[in-house]
Amino acid sequence: MGTVRTIDHPLIQHKLTYIRDKNTGSKEFRELVEEVSTLLAYEVTRELPLQEIEIETPVTKTRAQTITGKKLVIVPILRAGLGMVDGILKLIPTAKVGHVGLYRDPETLEAVEYYCKLPVEVENRELIVVDPMLATGGSAVAGIDSVKERGAKKIKLVCLIAAPEGLEKVQQAHPEVDIYTAAVDEKLNDHAYIVPGLGDAGDRLYGTK
Ligand code: PRP
Ligand code: URA
Repeated sequence: MGTVRTIDHPLIQHKLTYIRDKNTGSKEFRELVEEVSTLLAYEVTRELPLQEIEIETPVTKTRAQTITGKKLVIVPILRAGLGMVDGILKLIPTAKVGHVGLYRDPETLEAVEYYCKLPVEVENRELIVVDPMLATGGSAVAGIDSVKERGAKKIKLVCLIAAPEGLEKVQQAHPEVDIYTAAVDEKLNDHAYIVPGLGDAGDRLYGTK
């Protein structure tokens, strides 16, 4: 079973408070989401493989560690996942970026894929699927389905706020996926919004409401 890691560093908790606050406008909201994403990326990359290389400092020759392996892929789930990409790229500037677009079918309420573009050799890369909100888990499960259908094998999911319902759904559907979140909130309300949550992440990022 994949693990759920709540990354509740004081800096993250502080910034998340202002992300949640309804009086925080889009500009500051976007900046804070980016900053928290950078901080989360620090933890998500903790187990990246290293290899030793030889270098020369101004003093002497020595051996030192560098990150090895194929480039990581950040995969935002459109649209709100886009708000997390630049923050992660700050720490991992060489990462590739794939995209998965989903909409909710108004009849069935199922998440339906309308777009998916991933880099080549996705089967040999580690993917970090990002979406600020893990509510019912429908979008995350469908997003992970999409990348798996294209060959992805090593996948992590990173969000800002998760509901217990969403965590359970992802763990059942994709038990090997580790989940990183800045907070696990109390519950979902009748409209499947996270409580206390932050409202609609896409609307707050892009000022569409
Ligand atoms: C939000 C959020 C997730 C989804 C979470 O996206 O960014 O993708 O809801 O809810 P779920 O866990 O119940 O699926 P939304 O569907 O509002 O689309 P948007 O990103 O385009 O605003
Ligand atoms: N999507 C959001 O943007 N917010 C929620 O609380 C739930 C789903």
